[in-house]
Amino acid sequence: LKAEKVKVTFVLKDGKRLETEAKVGDTLLDVVVNNDLNIEGYGACEGTLTCSTCHVFLKQSDYDRLPEEPCDEERDMLDLAYGLTDTSRLGCQITLTKDLDGLEIQVPETINDARN
Ligand code: FES
Repeated sequence: LKAEKVKVTFVLKDGKRLETEAKVGDTLLDVVVNNDLNIEGYGACEGTLTCSTCHVFLKQSDYDRLPEEPCDEERDMLDLAYGLTDTSRLGCQITLTKDLDGLEIQVPETINDARN
């Protein structure tokens, strides 16, 4: 069985767009790691909800169609991220579904490791 794929685009702080194919069921952090996307410092805690370096901004319409709301641990960690917005999420907590095809993910200017 071939894994289902969706297209997602990471937009870096300098405006560079990294378009990539991602597997349904992977988190955005998995996508960065598995596709060797070069985003400095991203995902430092490997998805264990302790660093907030996977902070991303979403478009409101994308934010609204995410299947899951952030859990308390994610909210706590988001509070430690720089430049928090109403459509901020942690990439390690977003699992791709088929409906999320075309997702556009803005990477913040400053990546802050909350463990430092
Ligand atoms: Fe560290 Fe998401 S990778 S909180």
